[in-house]
Amino acid sequence: MRAIFAFAPLLGRLKGPIVLTVLLSLLTLLAGIGLLGLSGWFLTAAALSTLGSAFNIFAPSAGVRGLSFIRILARYGEKLSGHDMTLRLLSDLRAWLFARLFPLVPLARRFGRGDLVSRLLADVEALDTVFLVALGPISTAVLAGAAMTVALALALPGAALVYALLFFAAVLLVPVGLVLASRAVGSEVVAAGAALRQAVLDGVDGHQDLVLFGATGEAAASAATASARLAQARRRLGLRAALASALVQLLAGGALLGTLVAGFAALEAGTIDGPLLAGLLLAVLASFEASAMLVRSATRLAGAAAAADRLQAIASSAPAVAEPAAPLPIPAGGDMRFEAVRFGYDPQHPVLDGLSFAVRSGECVAITGPSGAGKSTIAQLLLRLADPDAGTVRLNGSDLREMAGPELRQRVALMTQDAPVFLDTIRANLRIGRDNADDGALWHVLEAVHLAEFVRGLPGQLDAVVGEAGRTLSAGQARRICLARTLLSRADIVVFDEPTSGLDAETEAAFLAELPELTRGRTAIVITHAVVPETFDRVLELRAGRLAEVRHH
Ligand SMILES: Nc1ncnc2c1ncn2[C@@H]1O[C@H](COP(=O)(O)OP(=O)(O)O)[C@@H](O)[C@H]1O
Ligand SMILES: [Mg+2]
Repeated sequence: MRAIFAFAPLLGRLKGPIVLTVLLSLLTLLAGIGLLGLSGWFLTAAALSTLGSAFNIFAPSAGVRGLSFIRILARYGEKLSGHDMTLRLLSDLRAWLFARLFPLVPLARRFGRGDLVSRLLADVEALDTVFLVALGPISTAVLAGAAMTVALALALPGAALVYALLFFAAVLLVPVGLVLASRAVGSEVVAAGAALRQAVLDGVDGHQDLVLFGATGEAAASAATASARLAQARRRLGLRAALASALVQLLAGGALLGTLVAGFAALEAGTIDGPLLAGLLLAVLASFEASAMLVRSATRLAGAAAAADRLQAIASSAPAVAEPAAPLPIPAGGDMRFEAVRFGYDPQHPVLDGLSFAVRSGECVAITGPSGAGKSTIAQLLLRLADPDAGTVRLNGSDLREMAGPELRQRVALMTQDAPVFLDTIRANLRIGRDNADDGALWHVLEAVHLAEFVRGLPGQLDAVVGEAGRTLSAGQARRICLARTLLSRADIVVFDEPTSGLDAETEAAFLAELPELTRGRTAIVITHAVVPETFDRVLELRAGRLAEVRHH
């Protein structure tokens, strides 16, 4: 629950709309109480007044109409400003969350895709309505209850205490009890929702393979289990909410009864007349409308508390690498050096151990080695996506840990092993490498990766939308888009991790042979399984965590 309050600063900007929403909802409730009270008094008084005797029918009926109008308009305004506030809060929350997500590479490996999607969508939404459904109704109910108590204290003192006790039990004790009783179930609803999303995403991603292996049954069963778990948790939450609602009704009945008993006594004593008592009774009932809203809020609050915890977990998780407090400028050049680097995802089991090698400015070097040897890990360290456990990685003589991350990544570009094509135009996909590249540069680089002809044939050419749900590319074409993007960058050092995977042998050989020319003037480090052409300066082979030079020109 405490985690929810951590988000309170986000509300600062929304003070105005929040106050307006609370005032309008208070007005709605008070108009409702007044409306029912006045109607009760009016009907009773009209019935009791003997036919023909002078009873002013116009003032009360104008009052009823006025109050209905106020109630309609106030409710409309309340919804308007409440939703305006919620939507603004939603966008603030998402911006806040995204700003904290980006430094956390590799993101999906830490949280899991389904879980992350759940956090970004469901958790944020659970949280954004909290203030709308909790803050507003609580303050409204307390204010309305206080007003009603004052009215009773003036008109029917005998009923005021009982009413106040029962009303505040309904709007404070019941919701608090409900929140406490639903805490565990609330987290279970959130966790089960995340598990269901994960199961569905896995099923969608792997759909084809599951069908091919005849394993759809298991996948469906795991989705069904997750779904049943969510339904079960929701039912348990619903049961608690229903019990709380029943309790509120009971308290409302008690308050009504208390008012009635005190009212009859006052009627006999002659301190109150019938119509006023009828009005007060209906007003008492109307005031409990506030507590019905609160039960709904309390149910949501239980889930929101769990959601807030999960969002806080993202916000407070440390980035993989720490930015230096006072980053040093990066010296010019494209000289990269590993000095006795040891690194393991689990430090007890190093992947790289005592790795030393140097790539000089302008060299084109291949790194080969068996799968799982740690080649991609070298690329991660080069870009400082992780820090070595021992030893140093140096760019132009300076330790990477002394540099600002964004500046380093302008100087060193990496095409990862699973670089994505985004659902966007060819142009936008390429410009990730260099954001102001003109069409001439784009066509030039497309020629270099042998894609120009293909793109020329697309409707819209550079404006053609590609990627999932756009024009789907073959694995080789997608790979070459990512290659082109990396070539386009202005980095002094370009690193390619298996750049030719998915390409046919002929294109692969041609591309690798041309690579030294394409990266001329820059340092190129190419991780590959393919036969390395003669045009490369050197070939290093990674074995048992160390690099050995296997070919030198
Ligand atoms: N994120 C990770 N967490 C834990 N272990 C990992 C991770 N990435 C890679 N590894 C392990 O580190 C070793 C080296 O992986 P990697 O550098 O990807 O090898 P290569 O690129 O040479 O095939 C492998 O044993 C792999 O299982
Ligand atoms: Mg690899």
